[in-house]
Amino acid sequence: MSLVSGATGGLGKAIATALAREGGTVVVLGRSEARAEDAIRDIQAVVPNAALEPLASDLSSQASIRSAVDEFHSRHQKLNVLVNAAGVFRKERQVTPDGLEVTFATNVMGYFLLTNLLVDSLKQGASEDDLWTSRVVNIASKYSGGPSVTKIDFDDLQTTKRKYSYMRATPPTMLGRVLLTQEFAERLRGSNVVVNAVHPGLVKNTGLLQDVGGPFRWLTNTLGKPAEEAADTPVWLATSPDTAAVTGKLWAKRKELPTPGMGSDPASRKRLWEECTRLAKIL
Ligand SMILES: NC(=O)c1ccc[n+]([C@@H]2O[C@H](COP(=O)([O-])OP(=O)(O)OC[C@H]3O[C@@H](n4cnc5c(N)ncnc54)[C@H](OP(=O)(O)O)[C@@H]3O)[C@@H](O)[C@H]2O)c1
Repeated sequence: MSLVSGATGGLGKAIATALAREGGTVVVLGRSEARAEDAIRDIQAVVPNAALEPLASDLSSQASIRSAVDEFHSRHQKLNVLVNAAGVFRKERQVTPDGLEVTFATNVMGYFLLTNLLVDSLKQGASEDDLWTSRVVNIASKYSGGPSVTKIDFDDLQTTKRKYSYMRATPPTMLGRVLLTQEFAERLRGSNVVVNAVHPGLVKNTGLLQDVGGPFRWLTNTLGKPAEEAADTPVWLATSPDTAAVTGKLWAKRKELPTPGMGSDPASRKRLWEECTRLAKIL
């Protein structure tokens, strides 16, 4: 049993398709039931026998994440694979119903809350998995945007003090995903749930840069790899016996990468965890 967020878009849909090909049920999480059903039709067109289920959640809304997880729990007890692939790149600053800037809410809080609420199902999945571990795979990036934004500004997580720009708001969320990966891995050590992050590189012709357009989008679509190729490392981490015991690492092309920026600083990942815990009002 796998659950893939962002499964209605380029990379997430390619990952969900590859997991469906491997067999087992794939829960296709989309921002709405209709988006998830559309993706299911697309996946079934290439994997006709795929076992797919829709799940709707707006991952920028904590209430929506909680109700989707309740819905998942009403259908299933166990989960073997969680792929967090949903993400946004927004030209203008937007605020969610929880009062959070939408890039931070989706790219960081969405990973944090969905994973936390599914941890018990992942632990139960590990007990029956042939490979003995359940896997969490977080799509991230090694790029943190150059020297001026290589850090997470913990005093301005919602970009209210500095002028908003997508290059200011987005790269720290990629670093945030790496930090959360390490912190989850640490906290779950010994539980048979492993957590890893992937740097997919540039992925072409996805929906991510629709909003920003311009040269950055042109460059990504020109130099990037197809989503199917970028899905290889996440699927390898999710399914291979070779990766059953690795945790807390950042990967690209099936190779471990050094972690970027604050990525090797335990104090930063603990600080981000504490901020997310406070903002999600959990624990
Ligand atoms: N493309 C790249 O070069 C690149 C590079 C590094 C990392 N990444 C990461 O790779 C992941 C996949 O991106 P992509 O390039 O495949 O872009 P994409 O086609 O836009 O896919 C993003 C997915 O996230 C979903 N999503 C966004 N906000 C959501 C929300 N509030 N609730 C539920 N679902 C939401 C989108 O659904 P909708 O279609 O309904 O909006 C879409 O399915 C992202 O996390 C991105 O940060 C991409």
